[in-house]
Amino acid sequence: MLRFMSAGESHGECMVAVLEGLPAGLLISKDVINRDLARRQQGYGRGGRMQIEKDSVNILSGSKGGKTIGSPLTLMVKNKDFKINELPAISEPRPGHADFAGAVKYGFSDIRCVLERASARETVVRVAAGAVCKILLDEFGIKIKSKVISVGGQKNKQRIKEVIDKARKHGDTLGGIFEIAAENAPVGLGTHVHYDRRLDARLAGALMSIQSIKGVEIGLGFDVSQRPGSKVHDEILYSKQKGFYRKTNNAGGLEGGMSNGEPIILRCAMKPIATLQSPLSTTDIKTKRKVKASIQRSDVAAVEAAAVVGEAMTAIVLAETVLERFGGDDLKKIKKAYNLR
Ligand SMILES: Cc1cc2nc3c(=O)[nH]c(=O)nc-3n(C[C@H](O)[C@H](O)[C@H](O)COP(=O)(O)O)c2cc1C
Repeated sequence: MLRFMSAGESHGECMVAVLEGLPAGLLISKDVINRDLARRQQGYGRGGRMQIEKDSVNILSGSKGGKTIGSPLTLMVKNKDFKINELPAISEPRPGHADFAGAVKYGFSDIRCVLERASARETVVRVAAGAVCKILLDEFGIKIKSKVISVGGQKNKQRIKEVIDKARKHGDTLGGIFEIAAENAPVGLGTHVHYDRRLDARLAGALMSIQSIKGVEIGLGFDVSQRPGSKVHDEILYSKQKGFYRKTNNAGGLEGGMSNGEPIILRCAMKPIATLQSPLSTTDIKTKRKVKASIQRSDVAAVEAAAVVGEAMTAIVLAETVLERFGGDDLKKIKKAYNLR
């Protein structure tokens, strides 16, 4: 079983992830992890924080001589902007953020105690853990990539820049859609036998867990509801060369809660960033007076970055299911089982 946990606050000393259940013998390259960390920092529309940070991973446990040894792998990324104890208290919750519900739930009068953890700064270590899972998946030829489909309703790269500039000028923010593709996943990851082991449910849950993701589609997605079965389901073909295959992939590589051998295609809808530089009205949680929501340093749009986080969450779930299906304590044994499938 592969388990993943993260810890850390946005302006705390560092962000940490622990991956438990990795097999021994996996060669882990810091450069490969750092490449994904750099990709997460990029994208038109990011805010000032990304200019302060230059994210780089430290591997604190779980490897020797660059290879995993079966014990928990601890990944740490330092926050250059470490100042949590100097930051002023906040009592004006931002609509759309975790501020209000978190303050009420935990009984805080200072919303900072909520936003420091709710912040998507946490995704830096999801991406680090995801990069390790990608290295594992790579051993089996499974590749994960992503692309931005639209931002603020625009698909064209130039138009996207223009709408982001316009939103920035008006103190507003944007969301968008990105797509993840996982290629070369074998048939039978996940299972139909129980709800919480279904791969579709696990992938959707993992992607929905990314801050600000409000919709997940698989394959044709919501469009399946508009077409008859004859225009949705992917006929099963066979050739000696290819084995079983499909001419279409409307199911997005997932049937009955299992991978079916076709590329796994997932799309995520990201809502607009909740921190507006021209803030919405809100109610101060201490005075109960109508005020403007707090203004934090913030992104205008972060769909490109969210797509990299989407890759990471997909990699974590696929790595979990590969280990469940072919699992062993060391990489060599898993590869043997994999090749016998
Ligand atoms: C990569 C990424 C960057 C984000 N950057 C910001 C940001 O700069 N400011 C902000 O208010 N929200 C940002 N968010 C979204 C918030 O973290 C998110 O809206 C908040 O935690 C509340 O969670 P919810 O939107 O899922 O309800 C970002 C999300 C992602 C995935």
